[in-house]
Amino acid sequence: MNDSILTQYTKLKNKGLNIDITRGKPESTQLDLSNTLLNSNVQALSDSGVDLRNYGEPYGLDEARSLGAEILNAPKENIIAAEQSSLLLTYQTFLSCFLFGFETPWKNLKSRKFICPVPGFDRHFKIFEDFDIEVIPVPLYEDGIEIDSFKDALNKHDDILGMLSVPRHSNPSGETFSDENILDLFKYGKAYSKDFLFIFDNAYLVHDFLPTREQTPIWVLSEKSKCTDTTVIATSFSKVTFGGGGLSFVASGTRGIELLKRIRTSMIICPDKINQQRHLNFLPNLNAIKNHMKKHADIVKPKFELIYKYLDKLPNNYGSYSKPTGGYFVSYKFSKPIASTIVKNCSDLGVEITPADALFPKGKNPNNILRIAPTYIDLESLNNAMQVFNLATTKAFEET
Ligand SMILES: Cc1ncc(COP(=O)(O)O)c(C=O)c1O
Repeated sequence: MNDSILTQYTKLKNKGLNIDITRGKPESTQLDLSNTLLNSNVQALSDSGVDLRNYGEPYGLDEARSLGAEILNAPKENIIAAEQSSLLLTYQTFLSCFLFGFETPWKNLKSRKFICPVPGFDRHFKIFEDFDIEVIPVPLYEDGIEIDSFKDALNKHDDILGMLSVPRHSNPSGETFSDENILDLFKYGKAYSKDFLFIFDNAYLVHDFLPTREQTPIWVLSEKSKCTDTTVIATSFSKVTFGGGGLSFVASGTRGIELLKRIRTSMIICPDKINQQRHLNFLPNLNAIKNHMKKHADIVKPKFELIYKYLDKLPNNYGSYSKPTGGYFVSYKFSKPIASTIVKNCSDLGVEITPADALFPKGKNPNNILRIAPTYIDLESLNNAMQVFNLATTKAFEET
């Protein structure tokens, strides 16, 4: 270690930091924005006369489905307003395909493959593992999924069942797909198979903190491509109100929504309509949601700007990153396979960062990308964390 790095290292180590930037969680100040929900009174009957306390409305309160229709730009009949989380709806989609499928249950197939952008979201990779689905990785670039790689994958394999992606502020690298890119995905996927399943995890649909490229709603693009039956779009309020305490929505065409209804009928008699009503009182329409999300953006944006300031200080030959305009993550791609060394260096200085393994399907980690999740901590802690990140990176580069 050279003297200057050693001095800085010792200085940071002496701070005794204990900072966790492993997961994309909101800071408590963001959660406070929704505290009205904690004390809001809900009447027993909904506006349309449904008794919220009882079973019934298996696909969600009518008013909640209308809100989902407004958010996802799809007809109300094609919406399920559900509970808890979008990941659950995504999982239920896979489970229903596995057990029942459009025609053949996936469990009866000899092999199962799915296209998924990599690096990606660890919970998506977990779903693939659970259903013994091989991930066919495709890279992302600023406009979305690299179409040549997508086409190559389709040409090489005859057992691909669909694709799963995060089309807006993707996790972890922040891309927002262009309309052309999404239309191409529909075009080539549909030509490959009439049952090719397009799953869009729109967890960050309303989470812009800087001006973001125009994106036509996925439903509209899917309709234009005549793919709604095989398109599933999920989103939730987990990062609008409370993690796992909001409500979730899914849109799909008749075939897709019937599959989901089928599996959900076996497991859920009805969603939590009281929480749905509470949310409807608090965020009755898209406009209210957008105004609420501006308050989140005010808290989140300075944290991203701080990260950009630090990452811009790293020498160009260390690697590169792109600047997301929304979402919860920034990822840095190093020019050398030293991500695990940097994670170790950070940990030694009291900053826990997501291990690179989490961003890749099992066994496919090239050890050259790390994700920074800045939202959970305050600006002062983030400043310390970024000092550590930069020093840990410099040390790793100096020593290899
Ligand atoms: C891409 C993506 N999908 C889904 C989720 C989880 O959202 P939910 O709580 O709605 O399942 C996250 C959270 O980190 C995410 O990054």
